[in-house]
Amino acid sequence: MKDRIEALTASFGASLAEVADLDALEALRVEYLGKRGHLTELMKGLRDVADKKAAGQLINSFKVDVEAKIAERETALYEEAINAQIRRAKKYNPTLTFPREMGSYHPITLATREVEAIFESMGFTIENYAEIVGDYECFEALNIPKHHPARDMQDTYYLENGQLLKTHTSAAQNAIMKKYGAPLRAIFPGRCFRNESTDACHENTFFQMEGMMIDENISISNLIYFMKTMLSEVFNRDVKVRLRPGFFPFVEPGFELDINCEICGGDGCPSCKNSGWLELCPCGMIHPNVLREGGIDTEKYTGFAFGLGLTRLAMMRYGIKDIRDFNSGSLKALSQFKSI
Ligand code: DAH
Repeated sequence: MKDRIEALTASFGASLAEVADLDALEALRVEYLGKRGHLTELMKGLRDVADKKAAGQLINSFKVDVEAKIAERETALYEEAINAQIRRAKKYNPTLTFPREMGSYHPITLATREVEAIFESMGFTIENYAEIVGDYECFEALNIPKHHPARDMQDTYYLENGQLLKTHTSAAQNAIMKKYGAPLRAIFPGRCFRNESTDACHENTFFQMEGMMIDENISISNLIYFMKTMLSEVFNRDVKVRLRPGFFPFVEPGFELDINCEICGGDGCPSCKNSGWLELCPCGMIHPNVLREGGIDTEKYTGFAFGLGLTRLAMMRYGIKDIRDFNSGSLKALSQFKSI
């Protein structure tokens, strides 16, 4: 029995040294420890041995030894396999063999890109601007002095140092006029904040896209042309709009540009406060005080500005009924935009 075990130990060692992968290791395990393997043979041989106790101990230590060597080799082979996989992957790929689901763009991102592409094709540059601004940029440079009643509509979140979260993208107008001077064509999308109670069409955090065009002889006709062209491109059809007088201290004259509610087709629903219309794009001719504050020569230049409600536009564009879905972080709602 002793000789037999020694011979088997030697042949196992030789075979193990040749094992190159996990499949070969498994075959070797079956050969030695499987039901019809060498170990079972040895156990059967116990019948013919006189000192069963000593022989049993020898068989047992052979079994423990073989099991331990197989386990040790298995760990080493796993490590080798993973390292080979990492070497094969050209770039770092954190998913390796466990592919996860792909994410999707947020509908606001999609709407922003679409509108940006339209204005870019009409010669507008795209500007980025801060979310934290000063009182001057957000109000004073826009002809809204301290204690002006127009500030009531735009209560926001103030920082201890006196800065604030911008209430509208118009807060970038002054800096952009100072940066480029006239003539100027620019759009600037951005996140805006207001101290607002929320409902299906109001949120404390939302997106706007401001636009400005300043040149010689710019009039309301230019403003209407650009607005209609942009909306018709976004909705892929000639959209119904209406222009009403609107007051904003930084434009004169000022307008509210409303769009027919896409969700109810104009019949009235909670998304449009039952009016059939949605305020989408207030706009107007830039007030001379605002132009002057931005260093523009008002004798030579005029311009228009608009503040497109990007969040509202995305609601219309994609038929999203509740504005609160945008910031909800709900994957169920947002993953619907995967294929777009
Ligand atoms: N900033 C205004 C608001 O958020 C919207 C606005 C109105 C922007 C008229 C403009 C404009 O550029 O001309 O309420």
